[in-house]
Amino acid sequence: MATNQLFDNHGRPISYLRLAVTDRCNLRCFYCMPEEGIKYLPKKELLTFEEIEKLVTMLAQMGITKIRLTGGEPFVRTDLMQLIRKIVQIEGIKDVHLTTNGILTGQHIPELKQLGIASVNLSLDTLDRDRFKMITRRDEFVKTRETLQSLLDHKIPVKINTVVMDGKNIQDINSLVELTKEQNVSVRFIEEMPFNGEGNHYASLTWTYKKILEHIQKEFPDIQKIQDEENSTAYHYKVPGFKGNVGIIAAFSRTFCGSCNRIRITAQGVLKTCLYDDGVLNIRDLLRAGLGDAEVKAQLLMAFSSRPKDGFEAEQNRKFHSVSESMSTIGG
Ligand code: 5AD
Ligand code: SF4
Repeated sequence: MATNQLFDNHGRPISYLRLAVTDRCNLRCFYCMPEEGIKYLPKKELLTFEEIEKLVTMLAQMGITKIRLTGGEPFVRTDLMQLIRKIVQIEGIKDVHLTTNGILTGQHIPELKQLGIASVNLSLDTLDRDRFKMITRRDEFVKTRETLQSLLDHKIPVKINTVVMDGKNIQDINSLVELTKEQNVSVRFIEEMPFNGEGNHYASLTWTYKKILEHIQKEFPDIQKIQDEENSTAYHYKVPGFKGNVGIIAAFSRTFCGSCNRIRITAQGVLKTCLYDDGVLNIRDLLRAGLGDAEVKAQLLMAFSSRPKDGFEAEQNRKFHSVSESMSTIGG
């Protein structure tokens, strides 16, 4: 089967799909959901595993080579491993990645290793149990920490995602950098975005990527810029002699849109060609209306050829203006 290289209307290759398998989560992170949670979708509105497989197969034929399963928390979806076993076999999909909060992940790590999972992104905003409980509103730190250790023991590449929140986990930034001394892990600090199910937490963002870097440089003055991988959304740094590295993601400042190779599909099968758009195509409805592969692919292509140039344009084009839906609904 010949795979094609997909391009958007700005000449950017599209090769990376982020697929949310559920909008549900077993945590209530401050930056992602209100304390009382969000209104979850009824099960029948979610893509079934069969629909996901069909869709990923089509996208692989069109040129997608990398996929990340996200949520919500992916492991909250019953029998997630069954889906992963199928996805790793789809022709053309070279790398399968996962983003998880680690709570239900531990028992599956040996099989994830065996299936050749390319990497796991673990959401972890602090190394302190009390602050973890304050940020996530659940007392599950120990399980996430154990999952981190097990991933490292199984030599599955791990990235830690840390959302930097004013007044909440600033004291954790340097301890997380310190973790990269002995562990071959990439710790990525992410600017907080207003995707929390309730709207802006602040009038303006205090902890921009520049401020995060300056904060780290005070404690680690010899930290050095290192080469970023192609299409990386993070700027990478390394403290000389440390085993791991540090990334900073300007998710709110949106400095990386020029090389964006990613599309998203939400748990209910809505295509987003930018994190900041509010959905451009309901693929689930096309599949359920019985459209053939060729027709679905044609509609996908049309959506890929009208991508906004960056997250600011996408935000402007939204039908419902404010950016306030939960990251758990969008797919992290
Ligand atoms: N701002 C920035 N990052 C977020 N994430 C979730 N919500 C937000 C937000 N409002 C990130 C978390 C998690 C991933 C799924 O998305 O770091 O690891
Ligand atoms: Fe769950 Fe991730 Fe959202 Fe936290 S950030 S509530 S772990 S989906």
